[in-house]
Amino acid sequence: MNRLTLMKMRKLRDFLRDDVRRRTDFTQTDQTLGVEMPPVQKPLAQGERLLPLPEWRGFVHPRGALDELIGNRRSVRKYLDEPLTAAELSFLLWATQGVRQQTPARVLRNVPSAGNRHSTETYLALTRAAVAAEGTVAFSPGLYRYAPLEHALVCLGCPDKLAERVTHAALEQPFAGTAPVVFFWACLPYRTEWRYAEASHKVIAIDQGHICQNLYLAAGAIGCGTCAIAAYHQQAADALFGLDGQDEFIVYLAPLGRTR
Ligand SMILES: Cc1cc2nc3c(=O)[nH]c(=O)nc-3n(C[C@H](O)[C@H](O)[C@H](O)COP(=O)(O)O)c2cc1C
Repeated sequence: MNRLTLMKMRKLRDFLRDDVRRRTDFTQTDQTLGVEMPPVQKPLAQGERLLPLPEWRGFVHPRGALDELIGNRRSVRKYLDEPLTAAELSFLLWATQGVRQQTPARVLRNVPSAGNRHSTETYLALTRAAVAAEGTVAFSPGLYRYAPLEHALVCLGCPDKLAERVTHAALEQPFAGTAPVVFFWACLPYRTEWRYAEASHKVIAIDQGHICQNLYLAAGAIGCGTCAIAAYHQQAADALFGLDGQDEFIVYLAPLGRTR
């Protein structure tokens, strides 16, 4: 590495350090200044409605001891040509962003988050319908947003050539469009900035790592596989879900499908 590149790299490495905390004036954060806390999930826009996810307990039977699930975890880029059930989808969403406890003061989820700020919204691209127990269509192909408080999906429509658009958003990595579902995790940085200001951005990225790891383990437990994707087309991924790219944008994705 030449000297100029090394200097550039060292500057970029700052992102991984926590020196920013010493430089942050926590007396001036929006939280300290009494600004109202941002909502814990995106409110419904006009015309959007909640589509409840089915109960997964009793319908999905996760298998494997934790040591086996951890030991067998791997990235999977080939999926069987089979749909997921709505109950499986429900389980995977619960595992990655589900609410574990809700009181008037706070909402706790199944994954940790710095300061419990949970700056992530989960979007799904369903290239195949998710089926109900009796084999009927529970969620038709299309784009969805997960509403953790209600454990429901919000349908965002279905653009033409969805699988092709998903592959394009995944920087033409072809396996992405072959998965029956692709998880797209967006961040709304202000939810964390409200409390941590400049010290927010590294922890937002760390939070998303926990979410994806739970997806790997939950997928393995129900005969599915997934693969983290951080190489994606920013504008195409944001445009797919109508995100503004500034106050909300995609950070991470993971195609998922059945493997056995
Ligand atoms: C942050 C992150 C980003 C990744 N991005 C991609 C990606 O864009 N494309 C891909 O095929 N795999 C991606 N992977 C998967 C890695 O290539 C994979 O984890 C690694 O090769 C080790 O294989 P294993 O997960 O089976 O142990 C990513 C993994 C992580 C954790």
